[in-house]
Amino acid sequence: MRNARRIRYAARAAPVVIRTANASDASAITALWNNIIEDTSITFTTIPKTEDEIRQIIADTARLVHVAQHNGAFAGFALVGPFRGGPGYAHTVEHTVYLHTSAQGNGLGSHLMHALMSAAIVAGHHVMVGAISGTNSSAIAFHKTIDFQNVGVIEQAGRKNGDWHDLVLMQKILQNAH
Ligand SMILES: CC(C)(COP(=O)(O)OP(=O)(O)OC[C@H]1O[C@@H](n2cnc3c(N)ncnc32)[C@H](O)[C@@H]1OP(=O)(O)O)[C@@H](O)C(=O)NCCC(=O)NCCS
Repeated sequence: MRNARRIRYAARAAPVVIRTANASDASAITALWNNIIEDTSITFTTIPKTEDEIRQIIADTARLVHVAQHNGAFAGFALVGPFRGGPGYAHTVEHTVYLHTSAQGNGLGSHLMHALMSAAIVAGHHVMVGAISGTNSSAIAFHKTIDFQNVGVIEQAGRKNGDWHDLVLMQKILQNAH
């Protein structure tokens, strides 16, 4: 099934571009992220991002930000940033991946995440962590397909719109050499 879907996607994949983000992407990333903050419990925060904040994230050398374009239009983004502070965690990063609803379900998320993981390896990162809302079963299923392991659940870690939400932690060891 997955291969068939990939082939279908590949057949019309010419218009797909995955690339490193630049400052001109800040507006589209901010709008998508804020839709998810406002309309869903995929993320527990309720505080909207500002374009300035996103420009700083894109410029931050401790992070990697990739965007996906489909037919020349912004389709989504994925990024990694520090997992926890301090030198002991320097090789562990936490990621976020969001696509527009219209861009989901066609292999683009996998494409974007594989590009991000390759960039993370080049940057010397060792472990990638996804912290996923327990209500987001599609994202949990998605991460399994790209070889993330479910390593635990922090029950009722998040609160949004009056409800408690579990946080599912998923990890992938990117490289075993060091
Ligand atoms: C999660 C997300 C990044 C996945 O990207 P995508 O392009 O939709 O996923 P893909 O098409 O690459 O799917 C790869 C595999 O993941 C699994 N998967 C993806 N979406 C799924 C869903 N809704 N239900 C079950 N499995 C799913 C499937 O096994 C799929 O393989 P298949 O197509 O061969 O069946 C994207 O749907 C998205 O941005 N969702 C909203 C935001 C979000 O939840 N982000 C993650 C927060 S941690």
